[in-house]
Amino acid sequence: MAIKKIGVLGCGLMGAGIAQVCAQAGFATTVREIEQKFLDKGFGFIEKTLRRAVEKEKITPAQQREAMGRLRGTIKLEDLSGCDLIIEAVVENLEIKNEAFAALDKMCPAHTILASNTSSLTIMAMAAATKRPDRFCGLHFFNPVPVMALVEVIKTIATSQKTIDACWKFCKQLSKTPILAKDTSGFIVNRLLIPLLLDAVRVLEQGLASAEDIDQGMKLGLNHPMGPLTLLDFVGLDTTYNIANIMFNEFREQRFAPPPLLTKMILAGYYGRKSGKGFYDYSGEEPVPTDLGI
Ligand code: CAA
Repeated sequence: MAIKKIGVLGCGLMGAGIAQVCAQAGFATTVREIEQKFLDKGFGFIEKTLRRAVEKEKITPAQQREAMGRLRGTIKLEDLSGCDLIIEAVVENLEIKNEAFAALDKMCPAHTILASNTSSLTIMAMAAATKRPDRFCGLHFFNPVPVMALVEVIKTIATSQKTIDACWKFCKQLSKTPILAKDTSGFIVNRLLIPLLLDAVRVLEQGLASAEDIDQGMKLGLNHPMGPLTLLDFVGLDTTYNIANIMFNEFREQRFAPPPLLTKMILAGYYGRKSGKGFYDYSGEEPVPTDLGI
């Protein structure tokens, strides 16, 4: 059965981005949030991104209108029951995710594929909450979703090849490049990225280099678009901390353990760009390194 109608659970940064690219690719897309105010915020973000794309002449005003016309917001979970593919992008909390997946499993027709955009939880831990583990997989997008070309498609030991084939085709319809990953915490990219980000914090914490030099080093030395500390501010220190803890609990390897400086920054509310301060302070015109007493 062809994938035509998409459901997205959550309209935060990732959910809104996923919904946007689905609508732009021509899919009728319904996004569900728990409260109207979160939907309004997410839709505001999508409108702003599409408006900017029109201003830059990347898309036409008609394409902008058509994409917005394909998007629908709801606070009722049952409004997703007619979807062929539902992608979950809510907080990294297994209980919250599984409550939604168990309910969706009961209300959706047999052909509906359920997918999670989790960055670190294992997919099987969610598939087990449903009676359709063969039609359950991971679809891991990257931030900012409209810009980043990659989607990790995660196959559990129970996912059918038919499900993977359908999701692979769907990713290509979004003009994304899918890669196949096994169902292990962090999959491919975060397995490599999280230790790198945590090591950058360790280098700073140990006073080996300044935040600016660490970032310049990785930008100019490896052609990364952002240095690791800037990327941490971009992804969110809290998000990275949660991913690292989940991976540490899974593997018990020191390289996934959040360094004390990261923990302290989270306690201080330094979450990165979203809170106005992380490794850099964003309150002025240009970001400046935060004084972390190192
Ligand atoms: N939404 C939509 N479009 C955006 C955007 C956003 N949030 N941010 C930037 N863009 C677009 C801009 O409009 C611009 O588009 P055009 O080229 O069509 O004009 C393009 O991206 C480049 O943006 P800018 O010129 O403003 O800035 P830049 O060149 O510095 O690029 C960036 C910004 C794309 C974010 C770039 O710095 C980058 O690629 N950074 C690394 C991002 C990254 O590593 N993401 C992965 C994070 S890890 C993750 O997501 C996985 C996880 O599980 C934690």
